[in-house]
Amino acid sequence: MNRRDAMEPEKSRADVFPVKGVDHLRFLVGNARQAAHYYSTAFGMKCVAYRGPEQGFRDHAEYVLVSGGARFVLTGMVHAGAPGAEHVTKHGDGISDIAIEVPDVDAAYLHATESGATGVTEPHDLKDEHGTVRLASIATYGDTVHTLIDRSGYDGPFLPGFVAREPIVSVRPKRFFQAVDHVVGNVELGKMDEWVEFYARVMGFTNMAEFIGDDIATDYSALMSKVVADGTRKVKFPLNEPAVSARKSQIDEYLEFYGGPGAQHVALATNDILNTVDAMRGAGVEFLDTPDSYYDDPELRARIGNVRAPIEELKRRKILVDRDEDGYLLQIFTKPVQDRPTVFFELIERHGSLGFGKGNFKALFEAIEREQELRGNL
Ligand SMILES: [Fe+2]
Repeated sequence: MNRRDAMEPEKSRADVFPVKGVDHLRFLVGNARQAAHYYSTAFGMKCVAYRGPEQGFRDHAEYVLVSGGARFVLTGMVHAGAPGAEHVTKHGDGISDIAIEVPDVDAAYLHATESGATGVTEPHDLKDEHGTVRLASIATYGDTVHTLIDRSGYDGPFLPGFVAREPIVSVRPKRFFQAVDHVVGNVELGKMDEWVEFYARVMGFTNMAEFIGDDIATDYSALMSKVVADGTRKVKFPLNEPAVSARKSQIDEYLEFYGGPGAQHVALATNDILNTVDAMRGAGVEFLDTPDSYYDDPELRARIGNVRAPIEELKRRKILVDRDEDGYLLQIFTKPVQDRPTVFFELIERHGSLGFGKGNFKALFEAIEREQELRGNL
């Protein structure tokens, strides 16, 4: 199957599981108040809503932060034994829920569970003076869930019970990123195809692109990766599994330290990666290093051709470039953003390319391995 065929949306898919996009990502964290501060200052996000004991919700403090269409919910436990505490104990700070907005929660939940997905929460309404939201949730890899949500009958700041709140820090004049581009899952050895098949069966998602074997093998590390997406390409989920290699791969490291499968990285779409990287670095975010040789490689220079910024500007910031038949993309990856070497972020600026930076995988993984070596995990 050539790439064009693989990219062709499946016409029938829309009928079985239409989606509107990623609604929000829920992070279960050890300290939501401080996490909200970090994503405000370092990621330029705006805190817009809150729910906690003050609103009568005794278990959690939850902060909702947005940047354009990207929405993070940071949930912390306010007493011992609150629901979610075991998630944080096991996984550290991590993404517990990749919530998907759908036009019809009941139909989506019914289709998913009849197709073999495990139901976690049955369809139900949440109401307040701003209207009604309908929700349900299903299980995916590891302890991660997909909440299915229809907020078309609701005009409050997030969900019923949440109250609007002032930003935590003064809001930046220009946002750093506009949307969640994709969310990557790491699954166990040999399980990638099972999860690709899960998303095909349960959500009608199709395989967008494929990376296998040598494409992404370094001397030490290897992984396999496939990307599933809905027919409109609004929701894109790459799935990685470790491949057998000489030493511990970055996926093995993640699985060991996360305590099982989970969301590995979130790619944030920006239209100004140069200024965003400068601002985030200035706020203390650490990015993976790329050797200067990457930018001086004549083969790479020939392959990427002309991009919107001088290569010296990209080199200065360690921004990677990849090109395919549709266009090019600029991307860069943060180091893990918590103590465990688990969840990290990507910034991506697309210029036509619908890919994920396949041409950069080797350079990227070698950079990750340098970090693994420093941690004693290679
Ligand atoms: Fe990515």
